[in-house]
Amino acid sequence: MHGLARASLSFGCLGLLRLFEVPWCWSLSASLGIYLGTGGWRFLRIVILTARRDLFGLCVLLRVKLAIRRHLRCGSTIPSIFYETVQAHPDKPALIYEATGEVWSFTALDQLSNAVAQFVLSLGFVPGDVIAVYMESRPIFVAIWLGMAKVGIEAALINFNLRRDSLMHCISVSGARAIIFGAELAEAVWEVRSTLGKDIRLFCTGDLNPQHLTELGAEALDPLLTSSSRLPPPRTHRKVFNDRLFYIYTSGTTGLPKAAIVVHSRYYRIAAIGYHAFRMRPNDVIYDCLPLYHSAGNIMGVGQCLVNGLTVVIKKKFSASRFWEDCVKYNCTVVQYIGEICRYLLNQPAREAETQHKVRLAVGNGLRPSVWEAFTQRFHIKQIGEFYGATECNCSVANMDGKVGACGFNSLILPNVYPIRLVKVNEETMELIRGRNGLCISCKPGEAGLLVGSINQQDPLRRFDGYASEAATKKKIAYDVFKKGDAAYLSGDVLVMDELGYMYFKDRSGDTFRWRGENVSTTEVEGILSTILNQTDVAVYGVPVPGVEGKAGMAAIADKSDSFDPVHFFTAVQKLLPPYARPMFLRISPEVDKTGTFKIQKTRLQREEFDPRHSNDKLYFLDARAGRYKVLNEDLYNAIRNGSVPL
Ligand SMILES: *[C@@H]1O[C@H](CO)[C@@H](O)[C@H](O)[C@H]1NC(C)=O
Ligand SMILES: *[C@@H]1O[C@H](CO)[C@@H](O)[C@H](O)[C@H]1NC(C)=O
Ligand SMILES: *[C@@H]1O[C@H](CO)[C@@H](O)[C@H](O)[C@H]1NC(C)=O
Ligand SMILES: *[C@@H]1O[C@H](CO)[C@@H](O)[C@H](O)[C@H]1NC(C)=O
Ligand SMILES: *[C@@H]1O[C@H](CO)[C@@H](O)[C@H](O)[C@H]1NC(C)=O
Repeated sequence: MHGLARASLSFGCLGLLRLFEVPWCWSLSASLGIYLGTGGWRFLRIVILTARRDLFGLCVLLRVKLAIRRHLRCGSTIPSIFYETVQAHPDKPALIYEATGEVWSFTALDQLSNAVAQFVLSLGFVPGDVIAVYMESRPIFVAIWLGMAKVGIEAALINFNLRRDSLMHCISVSGARAIIFGAELAEAVWEVRSTLGKDIRLFCTGDLNPQHLTELGAEALDPLLTSSSRLPPPRTHRKVFNDRLFYIYTSGTTGLPKAAIVVHSRYYRIAAIGYHAFRMRPNDVIYDCLPLYHSAGNIMGVGQCLVNGLTVVIKKKFSASRFWEDCVKYNCTVVQYIGEICRYLLNQPAREAETQHKVRLAVGNGLRPSVWEAFTQRFHIKQIGEFYGATECNCSVANMDGKVGACGFNSLILPNVYPIRLVKVNEETMELIRGRNGLCISCKPGEAGLLVGSINQQDPLRRFDGYASEAATKKKIAYDVFKKGDAAYLSGDVLVMDELGYMYFKDRSGDTFRWRGENVSTTEVEGILSTILNQTDVAVYGVPVPGVEGKAGMAAIADKSDSFDPVHFFTAVQKLLPPYARPMFLRISPEVDKTGTFKIQKTRLQREEFDPRHSNDKLYFLDARAGRYKVLNEDLYNAIRNGSVPL
């Protein structure tokens, strides 16, 4: 932030004018269009209600743009920005590891990352080489990728929940020539050792006994780092702001993970926008319990330490019961969340610590409107910094003013300053709907549409760096979207914008199904069922029934304590859901499949449909005529399939 102040000073008015020349003209003409098209009064109302918000957003955008321009001009990298942070406060705690209480000062983090840099250089790696990093969250994880970045070597950050085929897939698409893994994952490495090939070198950090090391053919990293020089490494690379920093794997809802390229400027941008948009302060302490192999934990969280000099508390693994006590213990003022975390916290019995902490701000995504206010009220959180944006996309939005339920906004007064749009899309196939002129059709307020961001490789705020795989990159780009010959990034997510420009997350792609002529949103139904069931995990999906149009709703419900009560459940469902949205089938199991970031996985559930032979889970069928859920046994299953029991 000291850097930003300098940037604004050195740039002055000239840069400011140049920056907004073009969008400004578009915006004025677009605003005029709204003005004339909607009648002056409506436009005036919009101006009155949103000018403050928009002005703040514009300032955030401007500050970050100016800083990015400066870094582009100077050829900055994340290590060079981190160097400035270290100079500013060498002895301040940078990272705190919750599991052991160890505190890493900025100097300590800098020196250990130097040791990593010196070490990988000594191994003969050259700029552009890739090393896979596979370990649980802890401070050395940051030192490792940062140290590699100091000498231009790129880390592939691998999800530590992956095993066997998916682990192999991620390692092989990265092209890594070495793997640095945590001792806690030695067994997982062992499982793929024979398929890895002899050319990949293995290094293990943490305690692993020498015999296991030998069996794996791995070397112990920690002693090698201890004996490496802690001096800054020689600059052997020519990487600048728009060059590759590391790879993050995005867990798509379908198919295998894709490696998304993160360039230095993107890392900087996410951290800087988060800092300014949510009004973080230099003395904030962030509680980061999200995995470091994803952008939320490693960029939005750890980035605040590297770029802005905040202290970040790294939690090895999210724990709902320890959450607020940790926040009290470390004087945290900011916490990170994903929607599921909020739900788990609400599910906890009341504790003293939950209101004794100093947390002012919660930053994350996926907080559902159904639990938003319950969360802020119960835990006394003043501000929710909800944002939306995939690692690789340049069309992120952020909720800067705490509007309940919104994941961001786009200005209606100056709509072209930030060129994102909602465009009409067939929600089942996710194909763009085009008008007669061949271009996409923008949505009106209240209409759901696909979020797209126009692409401009010259502008770091708008570039799209793509995936490591070219085929994957192509699928995410559409042409002729706003005008002939342009290109836009397709986010894959459907949002709705209200008449003031606030945006609300609607659905993951393909996450609706049709039943009785209505579109049922699985996210919406999941939110409601989960509320009925005391915030337990619920997965809702459609299953085909022979001879019946559309898909019947099915809900898989996590019930560890075997306390599910179908009668009570049905009474609540009747009150809260319209008949077409009530799940026809229920599946009660101790756990619902989840990804490492607690996202519910439905692939297996969907495949097993409502067939009782697939598992020992208890199934229920909604007998609408009898007005209750009946246990679904094989007989009933067959009768439903042959049509003798009507739905
Ligand atoms: C938290 O703040 C209290 C009071 O300001 C202080 O005594 C304590 O040492 C702080 N704890 C940490 C871990 O910084
Ligand atoms: C909800 O869960 C909490 C914590 O597990 C428990 O204390 C509470 O009694 C539950 N409420 C209901 C209605 O089951
Ligand atoms: C459901 O979605 C389809 C496809 O997106 C759309 O054509 C249809 O009008 C929608 N129906 C309702 C009732 O909203
Ligand atoms: C997204 O990236 C593209 C390509 O780089 C760019 O043209 C577009 O303006 C960007 N969109 C936003 C909202 O930044
Ligand atoms: C449908 O299946 C049920 C249960 O297996 C059986 O009792 C019934 O006779 C079958 N009806 C038809 C028409 O096949």
